[in-house]
Amino acid sequence: MNPEETLNKIKVVGVIGAGGMGNQIAELMARIGGYKVNIVDINIEYVNKGLAAIDGRLEKFFVAKGKMSADEKKALTDRIKGTAKLEEAVKDADFVIEAVIENMALKKDIFKKLDDFSMPHTILASNTSYLNITEMASATKKPDKVVGMHFFNPVAMMKLVEVVKGATTAQETCEVVRALSLKLGKEPVICQDFSYGFLANRAYRGLSTEAVQMVWERVASPEDIDKALKLGYNLPMGPLELSDMTGGWALRASSEEDAVRELGSDKGRLHPLIRMMVRAGYTGGPGKKGIYDFYRDVISK
Ligand SMILES: NC(=O)c1ccc[n+]([C@@H]2O[C@H](COP(=O)([O-])OP(=O)(O)OC[C@H]3O[C@@H](n4cnc5c(N)ncnc54)[C@H](O)[C@@H]3O)[C@@H](O)[C@H]2O)c1
Repeated sequence: MNPEETLNKIKVVGVIGAGGMGNQIAELMARIGGYKVNIVDINIEYVNKGLAAIDGRLEKFFVAKGKMSADEKKALTDRIKGTAKLEEAVKDADFVIEAVIENMALKKDIFKKLDDFSMPHTILASNTSYLNITEMASATKKPDKVVGMHFFNPVAMMKLVEVVKGATTAQETCEVVRALSLKLGKEPVICQDFSYGFLANRAYRGLSTEAVQMVWERVASPEDIDKALKLGYNLPMGPLELSDMTGGWALRASSEEDAVRELGSDKGRLHPLIRMMVRAGYTGGPGKKGIYDFYRDVISK
């Protein structure tokens, strides 16, 4: 069957995880894709929080700006059903995308259950940023239908989708996800499940590590390093301020073991400055200190 035909048969989408990415993906699937969406989380409070986030964005960015009527919003939100039961979310879904926390053991457990609970033809995708798709696929009886579909945050704004082909993923599955991404208004790229962070995150990690090294060598202040990269490469944000904002330093520290295993010890090893900052509590993230503060409080003294 050609990918367009398979795509046209998708009517219901299951989204696993109603957190930051899951609720945004659910909204996109319903608003742009026109799908019926079932979204699940571990309890009904988290589900309702995700549904409220969708409602809030639709109100703020569409209804308040006259781009959607209140009736249209209601019709859209009525198509998104929340549940705290995994089986309920996936039993009638033709396409499932998992967006739970970044933990391989949890994801494998979920893929095993998805395999049991979903229909045989259902494609099972993961929104993982870094983890191995082939390993998730191994938990199922249909590894050819398991694929990475990596959206970027914020989902409504960011055009890129990385379609990740695991060692056992069928090319046809990738083509369906590519076609789905195009339908959702995105720009897909297909990549192999070869290393840690697929394409964009893997390359960006190198840029960010070199920026950290320059702070370590006191070549310039974090402000000026970010300014050089923003103006020199037309980036909207510098890598240092981005990790300060998102808490990227803590994430890097907690995933060093995985990165060393997947990228090799040179590339995967945590920079000593990141280790030092995180140990001192300069992890970045909302309300937390990061590398700009560490430079001011420690390095520049
Ligand atoms: N945050 C980003 O910028 C970003 C960007 C791209 C991809 N990702 C990836 O998307 C995934 C989700 O990230 P996030 O930022 O949305 O995380 P998050 O912590 O905001 O949300 C994860 C949600 O998964 C739920 N969950 C945990 N166990 C579950 C289970 N067994 N069943 C159902 N739900 C469960 C949690 O309760 C939580 O609501 C991760 O794999 C992450 O790497 C994140």
